[in-house]
Amino acid sequence: MTGSRRTLYEPHNGRVNVHDLAAALEPRLPSPLRPADDDRFSRRGLRLLLKRDDLIHPDLVGNKWRKLAPNLAGAAGRPVLTFGGAYSNHLRATAAAGRLLGFPTIGVVRGDELAGRPLNASLARCAADGMRLVFVDRATYRAKGDPEVLAGLLRDAPEGTVVVPEGGSNEAAVRGCTALGRELRGRADVVAVACGTGGTLAGLAAGLGPGQRALGIPVLKGGFLEGEIRALQERAFGGRAGEWGLDDRFHFGGYARGAPGLTAFAEDFEARHGLAVERVYVAKMLYALVTQAEEGAFAPGTTVAAVVTGGPDPVDGNKEGVADGSTG
Ligand SMILES: Cc1ncc(COP(=O)(O)O)c(C=O)c1O
Repeated sequence: MTGSRRTLYEPHNGRVNVHDLAAALEPRLPSPLRPADDDRFSRRGLRLLLKRDDLIHPDLVGNKWRKLAPNLAGAAGRPVLTFGGAYSNHLRATAAAGRLLGFPTIGVVRGDELAGRPLNASLARCAADGMRLVFVDRATYRAKGDPEVLAGLLRDAPEGTVVVPEGGSNEAAVRGCTALGRELRGRADVVAVACGTGGTLAGLAAGLGPGQRALGIPVLKGGFLEGEIRALQERAFGGRAGEWGLDDRFHFGGYARGAPGLTAFAEDFEARHGLAVERVYVAKMLYALVTQAEEGAFAPGTTVAAVVTGGPDPVDGNKEGVADGSTG
């Protein structure tokens, strides 16, 4: 870490903003937008583009940069407490940011049974980056929004600790994701993104220009996301923003669940395009897009951009079959 990075994060200096963060971490923005030659699209007169958010930053990959940066700027060097499952990308990104920028991090991990076991590679990385891990039982984890439960968690945290929600999806994160939409203005007709909490879609849709629409592919089962995205947009923008819709057919049974067909599809996509396909989110979104193209959902002449929101886990690779039920 350089000296200038450390001084950026002197606690309570109150001067940190997203531009300071960008200067310190040097994200690759706007992220590259690359054409992908794919006959499943071209033979229907469609153009496929890959929006490579996975190349934004090696530690704050994809939507993690877009969602965390405004929250970290808001925290201004104070300790950050956040939440995640045992394989949470969000926890790892937060821990890495803490290491890079020199602020303390606390990760509240779902599952107290994990406390007595050796850390998996993902949590070991969080710990190596200096994150203090606090394991809580599932009931406590579910109740983390309850002021009393939160106060209990904060009791052992340093004074001034800032709380960032699970998956990082709050109003600041949603507003941060509008930049993704703005980068795509005039470049595509339809922009597809995989959804966990829906925060990325909520911001993306708001940032797109007239005539563009965002297509969200939920990776969790349940059909609850429409209402959650509306609520996120309400809080971030005061009402519905941009054109967006969801296609709920591609969760493959739920979070981190897959199927041989999905694996084969992802491997084939990797071979066609030389892109390592993250399985929990990105594979399902790409599968959905190819299916919609084959169903004739897009008129000839349509340009479709697929947002590559992350890459395979740098620690564990693709963890198919890991279904711990929490996003991020
Ligand atoms: C790679 C990847 N893509 C997409 C998402 C979904 O993001 P959101 O929770 O904002 O819907 C996540 C979760 O944060 C993710 O890790």
